[in-house]
Amino acid sequence: KRTGVIVVGSITADVTTFSPRLPRRGETIFGDDVTLVLGGKGANQAVAASRAGAGVELVGCVGTDAFQALVLDGLSADGVVTEHLRIVEGATGVAHIRVDDTGENDIVIVPKANSSLSIEQVTAALGDIGPTAAVLLTQLEVPAPVVLHAIRLARSAGLITVLDPAPAPVIPLSDEVWASVDIVTPNETEAATITGTAVTDAASATRAGQWFLDRGTRAALITLASAGAVLVTADGSSVFAALTVTAIDTTAAGDAFAGYLGAGLARGDSLDVALRSAMAAGALAVTRRGASPSLPFRAEVDDLLQTTTQTNTT
Ligand code: RIB
Ligand code: NA
Repeated sequence: KRTGVIVVGSITADVTTFSPRLPRRGETIFGDDVTLVLGGKGANQAVAASRAGAGVELVGCVGTDAFQALVLDGLSADGVVTEHLRIVEGATGVAHIRVDDTGENDIVIVPKANSSLSIEQVTAALGDIGPTAAVLLTQLEVPAPVVLHAIRLARSAGLITVLDPAPAPVIPLSDEVWASVDIVTPNETEAATITGTAVTDAASATRAGQWFLDRGTRAALITLASAGAVLVTADGSSVFAALTVTAIDTTAAGDAFAGYLGAGLARGDSLDVALRSAMAAGALAVTRRGASPSLPFRAEVDDLLQTTTQTNTT
């Protein structure tokens, strides 16, 4: 039986400063805290899926600098398998993050080793572990041709393919990719960038979702932050209400969402059930500082789901 989750994606050391507000251009301000933790959308999704209970392997690249130990220790502490991870001479990827008192952030990603993730590496990994895996999770912090290759190969190997198109692509993705994507999970900004129309509410999110379906994607899940999420499939569209939380740091909320979605689908949950736990996981990640340290464990997600009644409207 296939149960594993394969994540193809980025690994970074996240250097985060916390300050009452973000500096204006050219301005210097004082902050109250700084953290150095494992991050990167690939690593975060892998840790989230592992904390959700899935067996997870991460396919990515790290460097040979001082950050290597930090990121590898973080992955192994969470039981993420790194057999097809490659160590490349030079620097590990870094994300430089600034968070203000409202929980909003801005981020500069410097990919470094992540740029070395190769098609050959993905082919070898999927050849070895593809037959026992149920789900592929991927995102856009590693070279786009490698992401597209992973999606096509995973689809032909019988995995459920999930693409989180984050961060929003600067260069448009080739249109043929959508036919190999089972589930796409953009936020408003990413959906708007890709589809070319503003996404501000459930109606515009539904139209954006239909754009993906028209190109062959099976399900589009558009996340609307405090307005919840819209699921668009061939059966129609449903709005799932958000869980109300106080935002401390939104970093990695989308990764918590994707990791839990993948883990849920890998254990055979329906899309609706997996989506509810993904939303709860994303909500919990928003209430905590940092990337990987803010990713919740399964018991916490189940507790939150039990104490809240989620409503959805079709
Ligand atoms: O999604 C959050 C992640 O994006 C952070 O961990 C940071 O590495 C950025 O790339
Ligand atoms: Na967080």
